[in-house]
Amino acid sequence: KNTKVFYISEEDREASIVEAARILKEGGTVAFPTETVYGLGADALNEKAVLQIFEAKGRPADNPLIVHVDSKESCLKLVRSIPDKASLLMDKFWPGPLTLIMERKPIVPDVTTGGLDTVAVRMPENLIALELIKRSGIPIAAPSANLSGKPSPTTAEHVLCDLSGRIDALIDGGEVSIGLESTVVDMTSEIPAILRPGKISKEELEECIGEVKVAYDDKVHPESETVRSPGMKYTHYSPESSVILVEGEHEHVVSRIKELIVDLSLRNAKIGLLLTEESHNNFSEYLSYSMGKKDKPEQAAKNLFFGLRYLDERNIDIIIVDGSFRPDGIGMAVFNRIRKAADMIIKV
Ligand code: TXA
Ligand code: MG
Repeated sequence: KNTKVFYISEEDREASIVEAARILKEGGTVAFPTETVYGLGADALNEKAVLQIFEAKGRPADNPLIVHVDSKESCLKLVRSIPDKASLLMDKFWPGPLTLIMERKPIVPDVTTGGLDTVAVRMPENLIALELIKRSGIPIAAPSANLSGKPSPTTAEHVLCDLSGRIDALIDGGEVSIGLESTVVDMTSEIPAILRPGKISKEELEECIGEVKVAYDDKVHPESETVRSPGMKYTHYSPESSVILVEGEHEHVVSRIKELIVDLSLRNAKIGLLLTEESHNNFSEYLSYSMGKKDKPEQAAKNLFFGLRYLDERNIDIIIVDGSFRPDGIGMAVFNRIRKAADMIIKV
């Protein structure tokens, strides 16, 4: 395929989105920015179109997709009914980084839901994404626009790096604003359950609808286990290099990383460091990337996937991650993604 790239500028913004919407309506694949990460879209109700997403990403067929809509009303086309608590969450957090799982209507094909009787739905906040959905007039299935197993893309360059030639088009809308995927909540159980942490925290959800369960953990589950979200079985966000995460108080983490570097250098391993702003000075002679201030986990959220890709491109053997930033708010989701990517976790 010859992947067509639309650069969004003020003058031709509308023409580009109209053209991209046409490609989607005709059953093609278009990558586009959302506020969380770039998504790879196709008509959610067109089996053939959705299959192209799986093919382009190399995604296992039982891992279901999120369907993107432009309003609460258009969500009604996809689900049997909107539970009261889901309705409250939509009013409060849509458009935004929150995905809700509800019972599907038969119109949603098996390929989109991985054969499940439920469907995941989200209304994104990014204006390009919203306009693309509106213009196409269809619900758009869109997983993150990376090759399966790679970190999710936060820039158009990342998308091209993974999918150039494998998809019909890409809308380049610049860097995303959040950098981590949406919070996923299963609304089909008596007590709603978080299947994937994201910017919208358990506390924020509970403030809106009362008790919410945590149904994810930070491990990658083996094929044999039964899990609520098929995505939990697959290695995520995993770069080519091995990843060592060092968690704890800042000074302890810094001294432990120093020890690790000595050890690993003796074994001739090529090392890259994913650091906090505070630890950056301690390691100026090494290849490193700063994720941001340790008290500002939203900076780490925005820079984590970028940093993993930056280091991974430099052919290093081992990435050491400074895990001394605050684990509250979106920090919980940052730790979830790094722990899933990590081959080894050291607590100091
Ligand atoms: O922020 C996001 O959510 C991005 C942007 C593009 O919207 N999308 C995204 O999609 O991260 P994806 O496919 O990479 O992750 C979707 C997750 C997977 O872990 C999948 O297993 C889970 O949602 N999921 C989807 N439908 C589900 C369902 N019916 N039941 C349980 N889990 C579901
Ligand atoms: Mg993904």
